[in-house]
Amino acid sequence: MHIFITRDIPDEGIKLLRKRKGIKLDIYKGDRAIPRLELFKRVRGVDILLSLLTDNIDAEVFKAAGVQLKMVANYAVGFDNIDLKEAAKRGIVVTNTPGDEIAESVAEHALALLFALAHRIVEADTFMRTGKYHGWGPKMLLGTDVMGKTVGIVGAGRIGGYFARRLADGFGVKILYTNRKPDLDLEKKYGAKFVPLKELLKNADFVSLHVPLTPETRHLIGTKQLQTMKKTAFLINTARGPIIDEHALVQALKKGKIAGAALDVYECEPFVACNARDITELRRLPNVVLTPHTASATVETRQAMSRRAAENILAFLDGKTPPNAVKI
Ligand code: DGY
Repeated sequence: MHIFITRDIPDEGIKLLRKRKGIKLDIYKGDRAIPRLELFKRVRGVDILLSLLTDNIDAEVFKAAGVQLKMVANYAVGFDNIDLKEAAKRGIVVTNTPGDEIAESVAEHALALLFALAHRIVEADTFMRTGKYHGWGPKMLLGTDVMGKTVGIVGAGRIGGYFARRLADGFGVKILYTNRKPDLDLEKKYGAKFVPLKELLKNADFVSLHVPLTPETRHLIGTKQLQTMKKTAFLINTARGPIIDEHALVQALKKGKIAGAALDVYECEPFVACNARDITELRRLPNVVLTPHTASATVETRQAMSRRAAENILAFLDGKTPPNAVKI
């Protein structure tokens, strides 16, 4: 059984796979995402592909691999990088790596971004590093308290739910949420209110995005939605870049339509925006916090993802339905 891993991942899953007899493991060891042509070359003849969210796994890759390719184990919760229809057509099983660990990490990161915005942590850090601090001042770098505010959660799945729980428990915030359907547990335990997106955007002081990227959620937040938000509100995205129309976001930030934004994911990753002008603007804006798609980047979570990807592969090899098979 020939397995190709498109990048060196934390070792727990690799160890699990190495323990199994009859597996030939091939790992791309480059320090960036595997180049497309290299992927075509390395995938040829493999039975199972362990891919990353940075790999676009489409018909061309399936063709380059050959008909024996039977499984793609994605090392990510999101699977918008995989052409699921094409995989289904070829009878290829696709899995992802959801779980409590990654949900907790991403929820924590979204919280870190929320507090960084509210308390202007990055601006304050720059202020110190650039020697601007000349003594305490009553109006210096004023932020906003989180306690008692309204937080809007767009997508109350596992990550959105953990995010809500932490805020409701510790900060007495009012929670508004949108979801495919109401979450009664969230409502009962944390007093969360299920509302239409427009109402959420109109009333929330902080809006955090936790929906997967699908054709329906692409540019879910654009000019109109940003205009609906309060001028004092902040937007946080730890989900997928294209959920926000980033050009519209840059305009909204420049015109003061919202108070600030924190982004962990970008529309044209690895670039912070899709055109040079927006890149410059976004980097310059002081009320913006940027992290490099690291919401799940904790040692514990990345190891858990590695284990999950391997467990999916091992279940598949045992003839079972992998625990995290993506429904197509
Ligand atoms: C995922 O797993 O989809 C995350 O974006 C990784 O950080």
